[in-house]
Amino acid sequence: MMNRNLALEFVRVTESAAISSARLMGRGDCDAADQAAVDAMRRMMETLEVRGTVVIGEGERDEAPMLYIGETFGIGDQDSPEIDVALDPLEGTTICAMGRYDALSVIAIAEKGNFLHAPDTYMDKVAVGPKCIGLLKYSMTTAEKIKAVSEKYSKSIQEITVTVLERERHQKLIQEIRELGSRIKLIGDGDVSAAISTCNPETGVDLMLGTGGAPEGVIAAAALKCLGGDFVGKLKWRNEEEQSRALKMGVTDLEKVYTRDELAAGDVMFVATGVTDGAWLKGVKFTGGGAKTHSIVMRSFSGTTREVYTDHQFNTKPTL
Ligand code: FBP
Repeated sequence: MMNRNLALEFVRVTESAAISSARLMGRGDCDAADQAAVDAMRRMMETLEVRGTVVIGEGERDEAPMLYIGETFGIGDQDSPEIDVALDPLEGTTICAMGRYDALSVIAIAEKGNFLHAPDTYMDKVAVGPKCIGLLKYSMTTAEKIKAVSEKYSKSIQEITVTVLERERHQKLIQEIRELGSRIKLIGDGDVSAAISTCNPETGVDLMLGTGGAPEGVIAAAALKCLGGDFVGKLKWRNEEEQSRALKMGVTDLEKVYTRDELAAGDVMFVATGVTDGAWLKGVKFTGGGAKTHSIVMRSFSGTTREVYTDHQFNTKPTL
């Protein structure tokens, strides 16, 4: 079993990445904001006493110089825990670059071998909160899914709120939901945050449907496992090259529907810090000589969710 304090160690990592990218909020430069998050995250990860491997990261080795899939990190020795991480230093690069809502810095942690090695393709996703665990099958129609959730929550279908990424590919999905009469929260980016929001009644979101990044799907599955919510995902291939890469990475069935626990098995931890203000997490605020951050730290084994508000001082922490 993983050391329960590990997640608290990782919150420094996401805080640091969040502060670095938040400095570049609204500058219109996605690459610079992402790079700032990657650099800060990588630097902080090297201080951890673990034997870690990035299994979901910035991409494959030839395209990502840092935090690439397979990269090892940490200063641990043979007695230190062997862990895999699924990370996104800046989830919502465009959000941050445009100063919009719900950019996060995020890391999920599992024991070695417990995350699906998801290739950089798309995933069709269904995310719901704890009350709806086991309720939705991937094969159900959109109407059946929404009806089942509305009955569980004792809400009318018109009162159900579904988050959907605003994309051309979702036209049919959006039309179906509109015909049913449910409410839609269309988001420009950031479906990890959207998936997490289904587990927090304060956000008013009941479910998330639609296709987004596969790496983000694994990260969201880890988060929902900690929060007791449910997640189902099916990889959506754009071409044959992606399929053959996936087969090399260990995917055996290209048409498989993955459960939450197949994407993130065993004891998992999840840490996220808000970069810009969002449905749940507040964004980084610069205070003059420092910054305030808001993070969540969670562990599936205990089901504990901690919200961490941190006041950082730059004069005593020059690395930030
Ligand atoms: P980035 O942080 O990599 O920009 O991802 C943002 C995001 O909106 C994810 O939340 C989502 O899963 C994915 O992009 C959707 O991909 P696309 O923009 O290609 O539809």
